Amino acid sequence: MQVKLARKFPVATDICAFELVHPDGAALPPFTAGSHIDVTLRDGLVRQYSLCNPPNESHRYLIAVLRDAHSRGGSLAMHALEEGRLIDIGEPKNHFPLDPQARRSLLLAGGIGITPIISMAEALDRAGAAFEMHYCTRSAARTAFRERLAEPRFAGRVHLYFDDAQARERLRLDALLAQARADDTHLYVCGPTGFIAAAMDAAKAAGWSDANVHREFFAAPGVPEGGGSFQVTLARTGRVIDVAPDVTVVAALAQAGVEVPTSCEQGVCGTCLTRVLSGEPDHRDVYLMDDEKAANDRFLPCCSRSKSPMLVLDL
Ligand code: FES
Repeated sequence: MQVKLARKFPVATDICAFELVHPDGAALPPFTAGSHIDVTLRDGLVRQYSLCNPPNESHRYLIAVLRDAHSRGGSLAMHALEEGRLIDIGEPKNHFPLDPQARRSLLLAGGIGITPIISMAEALDRAGAAFEMHYCTRSAARTAFRERLAEPRFAGRVHLYFDDAQARERLRLDALLAQARADDTHLYVCGPTGFIAAAMDAAKAAGWSDANVHREFFAAPGVPEGGGSFQVTLARTGRVIDVAPDVTVVAALAQAGVEVPTSCEQGVCGTCLTRVLSGEPDHRDVYLMDDEKAANDRFLPCCSRSKSPMLVLDL
């Protein structure tokens, strides 16, 4: 669908927020906390951005984007957009939802990973649910939404940490996760790869169950390259397709006229998730949890490959 960029404004050093509205002022499709939208910046350049406004709002979608000099084009293209522009987006999708069973939620954000987390904080606050949020950034100037988080309704529940502060004022993930672990508590983490990895390690060490731990990467840590050739069989027709070492499964399928929907093409978003009927995938994504990867019944063909000579896909 098309939306209009109504407002673009800085929310921290190198971070801009973009307010998207319906061109006619109509209500936008509803979304839940943790949702993202696909933004088409130009042909072939589609990026996912988490919605960071309160989910009860229907007059706008708010996203925030870090200007990243090393980006593959998405963040710089976003920052170059001018107010009033019409933009193609997809309807909100949620791969990072709040668990309705949670009695208590622990929200952890690192850097620009604040975007889905602040929407979760808004939803939990509105629902009167118990939660705590911990938000780590490089410095106060690089902390997005400080004013919003300083509102009285978040007092005592939102904690900020800056890398340039004294060591004793930094977040101690291991202590926090050890102290917060409980069967009715769910953990939500979003941020850079290293931040998520540290939180996952601390959660594992503290005995958190995988079912209570949720995380969302906003960029792939770099998909491992290399690997040999293999074949995929399309179970519904019996067709066998060769996958050469330098070609992704998605590309090999497209060459054979079989389209698998994709979006991020880096194993982050889950759009290309495909059922595997037999064979052993070589999982290279960051979307599936470890237990989901171990089940070997699904894989992400935009980046993952095969350890076995043949993979049979439910296509
Ligand atoms: Fe995003 Fe494959 S297209 S995970």
